Amino acid sequence: MLLSQISPFFKSRRENLTKSHPDAVFLIPSNPDYVRNNDVHFPFRQESGFFYLTGLEEAESFLVLAPRRSGAGGHRTILFVAPRDPDKEMWEGERYGVEGAIGIFGADEAYPISELDKKLPELLASGERVFYRIGQMGYDQRILAALESHRRSQGRSGRSLLSVEDPNAPIGELRLFKGAEEIEIMRKSCQISAKAHRAAMQETRPGMKEYEIEALVDFIFRKEGCQRLGYGSIVAGGKNATCLHYRANNDILKEGELLLIDAGGEYQYYSADITRTFPIGRKFTTAQAKAYDLVLRVQKEGIAMTRPGAKLPDIHKHVCEVMVDGLLSLGLLNGKAEEIIKKGEYRRFYPHNTSHWLGMDVHDAGLYIKNGEPRLLEPGMVFTIEPGFYVQPSDHQTPSEYQNIGIRIEDDILVTSKGCENFTQDAPKERSEIEALRG
Ligand code: GLY
Ligand code: MN
Ligand code: MN
Repeated sequence: MLLSQISPFFKSRRENLTKSHPDAVFLIPSNPDYVRNNDVHFPFRQESGFFYLTGLEEAESFLVLAPRRSGAGGHRTILFVAPRDPDKEMWEGERYGVEGAIGIFGADEAYPISELDKKLPELLASGERVFYRIGQMGYDQRILAALESHRRSQGRSGRSLLSVEDPNAPIGELRLFKGAEEIEIMRKSCQISAKAHRAAMQETRPGMKEYEIEALVDFIFRKEGCQRLGYGSIVAGGKNATCLHYRANNDILKEGELLLIDAGGEYQYYSADITRTFPIGRKFTTAQAKAYDLVLRVQKEGIAMTRPGAKLPDIHKHVCEVMVDGLLSLGLLNGKAEEIIKKGEYRRFYPHNTSHWLGMDVHDAGLYIKNGEPRLLEPGMVFTIEPGFYVQPSDHQTPSEYQNIGIRIEDDILVTSKGCENFTQDAPKERSEIEALRG
């Protein structure tokens, strides 16, 4: 089904991007339609930056933002798209075409994608520099040819040198700060995903296959309005959870072990990213409970630190310090806390970072370091807090009651002016609440 109108936010994002780069031409390709075999394609998902600026979910599209030549200021939006074609549309579905690019997506001009090479040199002539991401989508040769053609056309005017910069830097900076409309969408994708995690806690039974729970979670995402997954779900029973990017999801769930689910739906192009860990039977064992309580405590302390002005590396440092204290109390590490931290010995149990930006991509755009320093958190940023505890199968030093344990607890946090909002608080994580659901 085609849209008859789109949100005005796409236009204001283009304006936000171009107003700080008045002399730049932006060249932003869509994702291609990746072929799986012959005439069969992988499911299409638009490139996040392209979608952020256009709302257009079609392959074979190309966005150009070019300074107006009239001196009126501002940029023109030029869209190159797949043209209407009744024969192709009979096989592949309806398209917006050139008419829709203007009428629905608000382009000032639109052309069939086949005209891109012809029009590019003239469009380049309206700017002093170019934003284009080299090495992606197979456009490099064509862009280089257009740059060369433009250079020749400029003769001795002195305007022939165009620097080429990566648009992901300015687009990433915009995407890092979520506006009210994005916050609303992310709240929804997180609520849907939390609902799926709760259902998994209710429905899991010993003897099921991991992929049955994967399918259940996927079904709830889709039923509640998500278009797709934000990333491949990790549904990992027992020792499988100690593999950080476990993907097989084909093992049998065993009584007495834990199930770790890291899954998030994508709603209107924004992903949730939730991890919960719960017993496949009714209750946590004593060792599982001790490790779980530690991870939950450090996770809550990380969330409590979130406010404008805080820094992700400080949250990670605190998480590691509290984790080390806990591991010492459990007798899983020995020695002095400072030494353990200095040597990174805790990485035997907690080998990954605590946070990443979250948005249209699960590991979202935006720089973590600005002017050489970790950047300060500001209202509108969304990120994860996801500490874990994993005993690797090769670790024979750790007491047997901790073997096969992999635990991670992950929430999605919005920085607000007063502190933070936990988008994923509806996914149960208190041990008592989980055991009540499992009972
Ligand atoms: N689901 C990927 C991550 O947690 O970073
Ligand atoms: Mn994550
Ligand atoms: Mn995750």
